[in-house]
Parts: sequence; structure tokens; C-alpha cells
Amino acid sequence: MEKTFVMIKPDAVQRGLIGEIISRFERRGIKIAAMKFMRVPHELAEEHYEALKSKPFYSDLVTYITSGPVVAMVLEGTNVIKVARSTMGVTNPADALSGTIRADFALEIGRNVVHGSDSEENALKEITLWFGENVTDWQRNVDKWIFE
Ligand code: RTP
Ligand code: MG
Repeated sequence: MEKTFVMIKPDAVQRGLIGEIISRFERRGIKIAAMKFMRVPHELAEEHYEALKSKPFYSDLVTYITSGPVVAMVLEGTNVIKVARSTMGVTNPADALSGTIRADFALEIGRNVVHGSDSEENALKEITLWFGENVTDWQRNVDKWIFE
């Protein structure tokens, strides 16, 4: 089953949106395979966003992600990389479709409340970077009602 890495960013934690955001993934049928509440060390933020190093917003992005605790998660399900990102909405909340997390809870691109891996390659890289081997393999009793 496909896995992805999702992070509830510091703005969402500060605003008390952790439960709201997790429940949107849960009610969609997505399964949680790992989760932790943590302050992001500067080096981890830099490694996570390494591909964006040359972007003008890179240093603001690292400052944002390290500015307070986050919730890091591994989510599992059919096409979960794509589905998690469509549940989140596009990068800029101003362009996100109503009903997505970013449209419903955010206004600006630099305060867009969540992160989700954008490809199989990056999902694997990010899961390893944030969780190593600490991902739980488990059966949910409702799986047969959600996965065909
Ligand atoms: P994410 O990685 O957080 O899931 O977001 P994404 O794939 O939709 O967008 P990405 O291009 O990977 O950018 C990562 C994060 O950087 C911030 N950003 N700021 N000021 C800007 O133009 C700008 N562009 C991107 C956003 O917080 C974005 O989520
Ligand atoms: Mg991205």
C-alpha cells in the first residue's frame, strides 16, 4: 500500500488546527502509519527542503518550519500521495479549491498549514528522513470497507 509523508506546519499547530486537519485525512479513509509531535531541528528543515535551496523563499521557509512544533506523519492508502495532496489543496491557499485544507484554513503561501510529499521518490526519501524504520505496519478492521 502506498505511503506518504505529511506534516502539520507550525502555524496550524499554534492555531489549534491539529485535530481538524488529521480528521480530514482520517475520514477520507486514509490510514495513519506513524506520527510525532516535535520541534524541527534546523538541519532537518534544511535537508527536507534541500530541493528548494536555490529559491528566493528558501530561508523564510526554513525559518517558518523551525518556528514552533509540528506534527509529522506517515499516511497510507490507495494513491495516498496524490489523494493527500488533493485533500490539502494547491500550494497557494488563494488558488486552492473550497473544501481543501489550505482553502478552508489558510490565506498565504508562506503560512499554508500543511506539507505533503509530491512524488513516490520524495515520499520514500521524506519518510526515511523523518521516521527511519519507525513506521507501524498494522491492519485496520475497516480496511475491507475502504480498500477494494
Ligand atoms: P509542500 O512541499 O509544503 O507540500 O508544498 P508544495 O509541494 O505545494 O510546494 P513547494 O513548491 O514544495 O514549496 C514548499 C513550501 O514552500 C513555501 N513556498 N513559498 N513564497 C513563495 O513563492 C513560496 N513558494 C512555496 C510554501 O510554504 C510551500 O508549501
Ligand atoms: Mg513540496
